[in-house]
Amino acid sequence: MSKTHNPRYYITTPIYYVNDVPHIGHAYTTIAADVMARYRRLRGDDVFFLTGSDEHGLKIEKAAEGNRERPIDLADRVVTGFMKLWKRLNISTNDFIRTTEERHRITVQHFFEHIKARGDIYLGEYQDWYCIPCESFWTDTQLIEGKCPDCKRVVEKLKEESYFFRMSRYQEQLLDYIEKNPDLIQPSYRKNEVVSFVKSGLRDLSISRTSFKWGIPVPGDERHVIYVWFDALVNYITAAGYPGDMERFNDTWPADLHLVGKDILRFHAIYWPTFLMAAGLPLPKKVFAHGWWTVEGEKMSKSKGNVVDPNEIIDRYGVDQFRYFLLREVPFGLDGDFSTTALVGRINGELANDLGNLLSRSIAMTIKYFDGVIPAPCSSEEIDRELIRTAEEAVSGLDGAMKEVAFQRGLTNIWSVVSFANKYIETNAPWALAKDEAKKERLQTVIYNTLESLRVTAILISPFMPDTAVKMWEALNIPTLFDEVKIGDARWGGLKTGTTLSKPAPLFPRVEEK
Ligand code: ME8
Ligand code: MG
Repeated sequence: MSKTHNPRYYITTPIYYVNDVPHIGHAYTTIAADVMARYRRLRGDDVFFLTGSDEHGLKIEKAAEGNRERPIDLADRVVTGFMKLWKRLNISTNDFIRTTEERHRITVQHFFEHIKARGDIYLGEYQDWYCIPCESFWTDTQLIEGKCPDCKRVVEKLKEESYFFRMSRYQEQLLDYIEKNPDLIQPSYRKNEVVSFVKSGLRDLSISRTSFKWGIPVPGDERHVIYVWFDALVNYITAAGYPGDMERFNDTWPADLHLVGKDILRFHAIYWPTFLMAAGLPLPKKVFAHGWWTVEGEKMSKSKGNVVDPNEIIDRYGVDQFRYFLLREVPFGLDGDFSTTALVGRINGELANDLGNLLSRSIAMTIKYFDGVIPAPCSSEEIDRELIRTAEEAVSGLDGAMKEVAFQRGLTNIWSVVSFANKYIETNAPWALAKDEAKKERLQTVIYNTLESLRVTAILISPFMPDTAVKMWEALNIPTLFDEVKIGDARWGGLKTGTTLSKPAPLFPRVEEK
């Protein structure tokens, strides 16, 4: 019997390597995925949101060696830091997978054997190049000036026995699939890069190593450990229940969205789909690759010492301010630059001035003119209808943007309500209406509509700024729990009259930078 529930929505982040502490790059992907997960829940979907850690491979083994600790101890320590950060950032994941877990070993070994049994894994010898930082294999002709074409660092020569995956067999099938499913790889400019890479020829892929130990053993041949990318990609089906709980798996898989950075698109858009084809499993519905952050105009690197710890940003500027900035600053997909000036500019401008002041002055006027009691709207004028239209269009605009994974556009849609509500106050000048007893009803209408636009805004921003949404909800003294709010509640007119409001704390304190 199949389960009945709302539409399933399965979304993933990359599982991050544990040789590095979390920085704004990791926070970016995870926050973006969280916003999407929260938005889909708001729409009523049954969301399964997964993140985790990638703990095997030569890179991790070497990092642990460098610290004179066991790889698992390194992993335990770093994973704790990731988990704490996700909690602070309000990341609403449903599961956290570590590749060193038993459930994952079982799935990876099963997946390997299954593909082998279907004839697409064979034993051979690998003799080309390997890039440890990227954990990727390269041929002579792919190297650029003898270095890794992705990260430009030195590669090492390998000559060892290896199991191979017959990736070459899937070249045409993959191209055909990409053509028939134009949404699989997004943005489209990235899809074109993948297509030309595939057209340049897919070779069989080495998927095991014998020269180190830190990995999942090849079933039946323990001299080999499974290649870390083969291991890592499989996390997405382990967490969905494959192969132990096929009922849940069939209900969850395929993933609706794999969110990744552009650095690892090739693994997700070529390796992963061909593995799945070989295993006879459905392909994910979408792989979206976002762009790259620099910091104050420079590439982040340990040696430059400019790696930004998200914890410091949160301490200084706040969680929602950070979440907002990352998704507002650049169109999702393009590269961006993280600078304090830009962050502070958006906090003081869009957050403190536009939204924070709108809330505080609207409530202040309710207190001043109506003793804090939300008044009933009366007549309706053209400008009121325009405000309502703006709010309705923001709801559908946000929906359209989220379908296209366009977070920045989603936010600008929401800000059209905020801006219009500010303009609405200026144009209607409640302070002037308040001087004339004959204009009492008009004043009631203006105050009600302003507060109502804030209620709608609270719902729409909630995926992006969950704490702020709840603060606004409480400031508007709305009795229902915010957790129970659905997107349908964003319909105009939901604010109850007669409730009493009191002066709230500022939503976004202004930031003074020297
Ligand atoms: O690649 N700008 O893990 P990883 C934007 N374990 N995003 C950034 C970024 C930056 N400067 N730096 C990192 C791995 N990221 C593998 C993944 S998945 C089956 C295995 C983000 O720790 C971005 O999402 O190197 C990128 O794809 C990811 O971190 C790489 O994380
Ligand atoms: Mg990396």
